[in-house]
Amino acid sequence: MVLSYGNSAVRFGVRFWQRQSQIRKMSRKIVLCFLVAIAFGCTVGRKLECSEHRETECEISNFTIVESMDLSEWEFPDHPHLAFGTYPHSDDSTYVVTIDKQLADRLQSTEKLEIQNVSLQTMVLWTNLRTLDASHNYFFELIVEQGHNYQLRELNLSYNRFQSIDFVQALPALRTLDLRHNYLESLSFSLFDMATELWKLNLANNRIQTISTDGSLHLPRLATLLLHDNLLSVLDASEWRFSMLHELNVARNRLRYLSMCEVNHSFPHLQTLYMDENRWECGHLNATIRQLHQLGVKAMTYYNKEDEEHCSKSIDEICCY
Ligand SMILES: *[C@@H]1O[C@H](CO)[C@@H](O)[C@H](O)[C@H]1NC(C)=O
Ligand SMILES: *[C@@H]1O[C@H](CO)[C@@H](O)[C@H](O)[C@H]1NC(C)=O
Ligand SMILES: *[C@@H]1O[C@H](CO)[C@@H](O)[C@H](O)[C@H]1NC(C)=O
Ligand SMILES: *[C@@H]1O[C@H](CO)[C@@H](O)[C@H](O)[C@H]1NC(C)=O
Ligand SMILES: *[C@@H]1O[C@H](CO)[C@@H](O)[C@H](O)[C@H]1NC(C)=O
Repeated sequence: MVLSYGNSAVRFGVRFWQRQSQIRKMSRKIVLCFLVAIAFGCTVGRKLECSEHRETECEISNFTIVESMDLSEWEFPDHPHLAFGTYPHSDDSTYVVTIDKQLADRLQSTEKLEIQNVSLQTMVLWTNLRTLDASHNYFFELIVEQGHNYQLRELNLSYNRFQSIDFVQALPALRTLDLRHNYLESLSFSLFDMATELWKLNLANNRIQTISTDGSLHLPRLATLLLHDNLLSVLDASEWRFSMLHELNVARNRLRYLSMCEVNHSFPHLQTLYMDENRWECGHLNATIRQLHQLGVKAMTYYNKEDEEHCSKSIDEICCY
């Protein structure tokens, strides 16, 4: 009995102590919550604020997003024009390595996104996005889903690491695509089959060796096609019909000839063709340049003549061998 009483006294004492420490913990939590609420404007989630550097866009800097990070606590600004990072100003406090599906779903109301020089690698696209500038990153994968009605029109992926661009098949509204300075090696132009709005395509400064086309390809709006600084040795344009193409740049490749039936069949509105720094075979070059003259198109040099190595034969200042 005594023993038992003593026991329950001990149990009571333990329970009392536990209770006290629970209350202490709870009040500590309450104080902490209160401080957090003061710091983050009395909201439970944490809100990302737009910094005031830019006028029309909401710039988010000094923030890091890496893979498998839980962002559910954070509230992102509901803004049509978002910028992550402070490009072109140097910024080593902002990293957005990935935009996953969950984050993409929360950025639905953003129509224009600038996300330059923040070490981006992969991103899930959302349907309302119309303009994306993701230049100067380590970007190699833009993820699209079949059957979505993507609105993307302007896409700048320059200075990145793309080796394939299959995503363009899902982007029928695309108007400009800048892929300069990437890691492309070969490319099927049939990917652009649905890109009937495409107006400017920049593929310069890649490592492109081959461009193939699966059947005939009509790009009715394409006005500028830039292919300079690649590794092309043959360009087969015989299946292309780019009826609005004004400017074609194939300078600084390894081209020996252009394969097409007639220049005016593939490019009836051509005005400027840059051809310098290739390995043109003189007979072919002569024939092509004669066709160009008949159409009133001048073969042009894109690079300064001083850079050009001395060549023994040339036609219209374009070296041939
Ligand atoms: C960046 O954020 C940290 C807290 O996350 C803060 O201490 C620091 O002052 C901020 N720096 C700038 C430049 O805003
Ligand atoms: C990118 O930002 C870093 C600082 O984080 C800077 O050193 C570098 O020059 C920037 N790169 C470009 C291409 O602006
Ligand atoms: C794409 O971004 C690069 C580098 O930021 C810039 O120089 C270029 O003008 C942009 N391209 C387009 C089509 O706006
Ligand atoms: C291309 O030009 C040639 C002569 O310059 C002409 O005979 C031919 O009909 C033209 N073809 C097209 C498709 O315009
Ligand atoms: C180009 O062709 C024309 C006419 O066939 C010929 O007179 C000329 O010598 C050729 N030029 C070269 C550099 O092959």
